[in-house]
Amino acid sequence: MHKDLSPVETAKYVAAKRAVDFVQSGMKLGLGTGSTAAWMVRCLAARVQAEGLKIIGVPTSTRTADLAKELGLTITTLDQAKWLDLTIDGADEFDQSFNLIKGGGAALLQEKIVAAASDQMIVITDAAKEVANLGAFPLPVEVIRFGWTTTQVLIEEMLLSQDVFARDVTLRIAKDGPVLTDEGNYILDLHLKRIGQPQRLALALNQIPGVVENGLFINLCDRVIIGHTDGRVVVRDNHDGSIKTSKVSVAPLGNIFADLGE
Ligand code: A5P
Repeated sequence: MHKDLSPVETAKYVAAKRAVDFVQSGMKLGLGTGSTAAWMVRCLAARVQAEGLKIIGVPTSTRTADLAKELGLTITTLDQAKWLDLTIDGADEFDQSFNLIKGGGAALLQEKIVAAASDQMIVITDAAKEVANLGAFPLPVEVIRFGWTTTQVLIEEMLLSQDVFARDVTLRIAKDGPVLTDEGNYILDLHLKRIGQPQRLALALNQIPGVVENGLFINLCDRVIIGHTDGRVVVRDNHDGSIKTSKVSVAPLGNIFADLGE
């Protein structure tokens, strides 16, 4: 383990570093959001610098855009890029069916739009985020500010007919008030403990006026790359069912360990 990295950061780093092996010159890439995705952006920048890789990134948040710019990556908007070869992003939870909960960092809307506009999505994660059933992590739902309390009531009523273990809904609050997404919306966190039928819930949520998008990512993820604290990395493929384990070195890549922002 690198002396500056905690065990969990090591796991995130090795997953991110392995994911960047799937990047080829000429690709248009979706750049995810969060601490694991930030490692991916750093590893990508290191490859661009070392190998002269030509890639264009579409960031999924202002945070990721700022980091990518700072590291000298070429970025553009999804409207310019239109379609992407590959998106690499983190997740808050994943299950054996490659379904995800995302949005812990409040970037789920752009993340889902970008993932849906990509030929492939790779999720990078540490092993602790694997669950038998989604839902221990509160499910983020992005809602329009106008009438958000009514939207909350409609969500609570809808949840009565869903296969979930608990039904608490809370507005996400930061130090200075409600969290605002990059699109200026609020986040409601649904504390459900266990989601029996994620696809059914995702569809029901998006039918409620005021809901912009929910953090259930169903049928979007092609590969999960799971990092372990000892540097082992497991790549699970959703299409051919393969599971491949390798070891990733935690040797410094250029100045990658400088400026650990997140
Ligand atoms: C951002 O909104 C999220 O979807 C992140 O991808 C997710 O929260 C994972 O973040 P970490 O990599 O920081 O755990």
